[in-house]
Amino acid sequence: MKKIFLTLFLSVSLLFRAAADEGMWLPLLLGQQVYNDMVKKGLKLTKDQLYNINKASLKDAIIIFGGGCTGEIVSAEGLIFTNHHCGYDAIASASTMDHNYLRDGFYARNKGEEIPTTLTVQFLLRIEDVTKEVMDSLQGLTGAERWKKQMDVLAAINKRMSDADQYIETRVSSLFKGNQFLAFVYQRYGDVRIVGAPPESVGKFGGDTDNWEWPRHTGDFSIFRVYTNPEGKPAKYAGNNIPMKPKWYLPVSIKGLKDGDFAMIWGYPGGTNRYETSYGVQLATDINNPSLVKLRDVRLKYMFEEMKKDPAIKLQLASSYASIANYWKFYDGETKQLLKYDVFGQKKKFEEKFIAWAKGKPEYQYLFPDWEKSYAAWNKYARQRMYVNEGVLGSPLMSYIGSYLIPLENVLIKPGISKADKKKAIDAAIENRKKFLDKENKPSDLNILATTTMLFYQDVDKDQHPIGFYGTLKNQYGPLSDEATYKKYAADVFSKTMIFDDARWDAFIANPDAATLQADPAFNHLSAFYTNNYVSKYMPFFQQFTMQNAEYGRLFLKGIMEMDPVKAKMMYPDATFTMRVSYGAVKSYRPRDAVFYDYVTTSKGLLEKYKAGDYEFDLPARQIELIKKKDFGQYADKTRNDLVIGFITTNDITGGNSGSPVLNANGELIGLAFDGNYEALSHKLAFDKDLNRTINVDIRYVLWCIDKLGGAFNIIKELKIVK
Ligand code: ARG
Repeated sequence: MKKIFLTLFLSVSLLFRAAADEGMWLPLLLGQQVYNDMVKKGLKLTKDQLYNINKASLKDAIIIFGGGCTGEIVSAEGLIFTNHHCGYDAIASASTMDHNYLRDGFYARNKGEEIPTTLTVQFLLRIEDVTKEVMDSLQGLTGAERWKKQMDVLAAINKRMSDADQYIETRVSSLFKGNQFLAFVYQRYGDVRIVGAPPESVGKFGGDTDNWEWPRHTGDFSIFRVYTNPEGKPAKYAGNNIPMKPKWYLPVSIKGLKDGDFAMIWGYPGGTNRYETSYGVQLATDINNPSLVKLRDVRLKYMFEEMKKDPAIKLQLASSYASIANYWKFYDGETKQLLKYDVFGQKKKFEEKFIAWAKGKPEYQYLFPDWEKSYAAWNKYARQRMYVNEGVLGSPLMSYIGSYLIPLENVLIKPGISKADKKKAIDAAIENRKKFLDKENKPSDLNILATTTMLFYQDVDKDQHPIGFYGTLKNQYGPLSDEATYKKYAADVFSKTMIFDDARWDAFIANPDAATLQADPAFNHLSAFYTNNYVSKYMPFFQQFTMQNAEYGRLFLKGIMEMDPVKAKMMYPDATFTMRVSYGAVKSYRPRDAVFYDYVTTSKGLLEKYKAGDYEFDLPARQIELIKKKDFGQYADKTRNDLVIGFITTNDITGGNSGSPVLNANGELIGLAFDGNYEALSHKLAFDKDLNRTINVDIRYVLWCIDKLGGAFNIIKELKIVK
């Protein structure tokens, strides 16, 4: 008896230790076991100080920043820290060639100098478990019926729990692949202003060469402020708005860190799929990822050619380029790591265990055979879908048409559309054409259109080509094996479309009709590949596959929890862009045989990487001077007599966590998380407990940049600095 008890206890704690730094925990459901482990690892705060529904707590300082990042409140006047790459688009949009804040950096010397943006931020008010309500309404339903009903039920709850007047928005999140449903209630604030940013050479130091890699020397931070109306309520931008008075803000510690120190990261990880099947891993490594990488290569190459030529084009394309490049490198790295660690084989092994357990259980025994069939049915169309999304729609012109002119055609040809809906579609087309033209670089877009049309011909199965398209192309422009054919065609599309011709566009808009749209060669291109081919013939297969995948995924997770009830109690749900806490430690690592990576980088490394005038490794002259003089002030690391730039921790984060606060045992800010390491780029599908690291910018470097390099003492004075 005693022995059994002991082994049970041991296996639980072993299992737990092995997975200690893995986990994106829901603060609401932070089990006692998880909390106890945090304390054991060094946490000094009580559970109530972390998360409390009735009074202010740490969670009130953590926000959704913009569309897909995290930010944190760091002063009593609504000051926000986030990453430079999260503020990038806003900073680029506020920049002109005369006031190039992206290139030169910017610090508001007083609140009057802060720059309005179109950004919003969201505060989490509370979380409610609505699992019972959702599950009751789904009783007995499967497949498409269940899928549709679930969407309707979630939409109804979202609506019921939202309040437009109070800017309250509720979004129910499906967790554990549809085995649990939590309603997240947010309040959205619409007046967010730029307070400061370092020059791009600092904020994006190392560029795409260093991206997703350690050792790193990027000053990836930017500063914003959230405003309210004079009554303290959320509001759109207005001159008489006032800085928000937050419920909570984070103190900043410049005491420094050492290997092994406790670290926790709060924020909004966007998505993981840790229970992806071996079939899914194979689809990623064989088809989806390589297709995306190949097509993005093309887009990036043509964009960069133009950006190099002219600083105005660089500013115009910078933000779009950065986001395409970011996931280009991610998916390339993901493929390599998935293959290197044989994640397919690991998944297979686990699935075999599951299949053995499922034998004779009616609910589960056919799950894997069915799932395999579902993948087999979809796999043959997967490449085409990628070539539409990343190739055909990789042209900004085509992407504009897809988002606004296809919907416009729809309202023009469908009977019974109201005048109001028609007007809405027309206004959207007009408004977004302006935005599109503003960002459009024709030479690169033309080349993208030509090359992606060629690659589609070469790489996608012939029987999935748009009917007649390539035959006509050959007749009118030349041999399909010849690149020049596609260039001639693309040049024709660009010179003949009305989208670049104000006079013809205005005439069309004065009296919009479907026939004119359909006669436009650019519109025609997208119709051929998208509406008439992908959407009408292949999208139904994709929808079927997606639905089946969701259904089988839900059963798989339900089964896994039944199979191992002890482990089930300590499982965390996949990331769903909902608030999570991850805890771990500052930690060095060994990326490969004979190589050791220290847990911090310093200014010494900045000087080693520095290349004057380089596209990615340049730095402000003043920064070089200050570093050479070792003018680090109170931000110096005492033990190293140097300025620490970045550090790594064992925390489990992913895209969406960008800008997240890294906190020490007392809940004080010690850094901003901004990246993951190359050796663990398979982290969305499989967590590697030895190699996974989060890359952070040290808060002392952030403050040094603001203070010594930027001279913005007004910002430093606002912070609560712990020395
Ligand atoms: N890898 C970072 C992330 O996803 C983004 C870095 C942006 N920088 C860049 N060079 N594209 O959070």
